[in-house]
Amino acid sequence: MMKKIALLGYGTVGRSVYTLLKAMDDVEVTAILRSRAYDDTVDGKALFTTDFDAILNSDADIVVELTGDLNAGYRYMKASLERGKAVVTASKSVVSEHLYELKTLAEDQGVGFYYGASVCGAIPIIDNLILQKRMGPVRHLRGIMNGTSNYMLTAMTEGGDYQSALKDAQEQGYAEADPTADVEGLDILRKLTILTSLAIGAVMTNDATSYYGMSTVLPMDIAFGLERRMKLKLLARCDVDQDGVRTVVEPTFIGSDDVFYGVDGALNGVELDGAYCHHLTFLGEGAGGDATASAVVSDILHVLSGARQCYELADEAPTVLSPLPQTYYVRVSEEADLGLEGCEVHQKDGYKQYIVQNTDLKALLAACQGETTFIARLG
Ligand SMILES: NC(=O)c1ccc[n+]([C@@H]2O[C@H](COP(=O)([O-])OP(=O)(O)OC[C@H]3O[C@@H](n4cnc5c(N)ncnc54)[C@H](OP(=O)(O)O)[C@@H]3O)[C@@H](O)[C@H]2O)c1
Repeated sequence: MMKKIALLGYGTVGRSVYTLLKAMDDVEVTAILRSRAYDDTVDGKALFTTDFDAILNSDADIVVELTGDLNAGYRYMKASLERGKAVVTASKSVVSEHLYELKTLAEDQGVGFYYGASVCGAIPIIDNLILQKRMGPVRHLRGIMNGTSNYMLTAMTEGGDYQSALKDAQEQGYAEADPTADVEGLDILRKLTILTSLAIGAVMTNDATSYYGMSTVLPMDIAFGLERRMKLKLLARCDVDQDGVRTVVEPTFIGSDDVFYGVDGALNGVELDGAYCHHLTFLGEGAGGDATASAVVSDILHVLSGARQCYELADEAPTVLSPLPQTYYVRVSEEADLGLEGCEVHQKDGYKQYIVQNTDLKALLAACQGETTFIARLG
């Protein structure tokens, strides 16, 4: 039977989703919500509207939310589920904040709620994580989950500085005009929150994880790694044991034996350790209209197949522990006094580069308060 689909959003992802859906013969796009009124037609049809209530009151079976608006997106999805419509979204910000509520509402209403495109674009990490978790514990997740920051770090590894890498990323369409969420690690944090919630079967919150981005990185930091045959990557990490969960988002120097060493440019990669699958690694495009649309349409196909995505998600706060102590690189100006005793220190070009053993990101952020600094895990 033909299913009717309302698209909320007709931007980078929405347009690609529309093109893909047009080629399918068991779905029909009946309306497209936009933020402003447009007179144009799509394929000769007057699909554009700014009236969400009309969509809510229509006979659309599936609402596909692609607005990128945290508050409105949440409101649209909640209202659609309440009306018994299946919802598919690519919004990591809404899902990382409202997963439990929207999942529970969908279950109560007996409709699907899918968000596979919210983490790492085309990479099918959410479906696979849910499957592996049903078979046994998932103990570890780690990944490069943001194409913009990876593109910029790759450009700097090839000799550029931060500003030229950012400009290049913007020109290539990878970085937004305001790249804050990408370069400060917030975008990755939201994705890690979603994956961690699924891995532990309990609701993780964005504020439970320490995160640090790459907006203060200098060519000398990249060079520090290259002199030691290491590349700098912005990594998200989740480790689970019987005591609780440890999560962090932080720049990390990795060697050539690391599976992510060759994951350059705008590519994303995620690794997962499950009880039965053991070690799995996924590589692919983490963003872009077509790549993200492929994940959105995969979820629409889930809805069409009638299969339910089954997983447990307890409404209780998990035990969140500090990451285990590691060795870190900290670069500050020559004048700064971090009070770090007994560390290896290098002086270079007006800066001090510390190698600090047995510590973690949170402790270093506290020690570096008020200083312009760059922090990265070493290995
Ligand atoms: N772009 C990517 O590579 C990528 C990758 C993964 C996930 N995502 C996620 O996919 C979603 C869409 O991203 P995008 O890049 O396609 O966004 P975009 O290009 O900015 O397009 C947003 C669309 O939503 C409409 N819109 C915005 N706010 C609205 C509101 N309050 N009510 C109604 N319509 C509204 C806009 O209307 P107008 O047409 O009138 O401007 C536009 O059509 C976001 O959640 C994003 O995080 C994107």
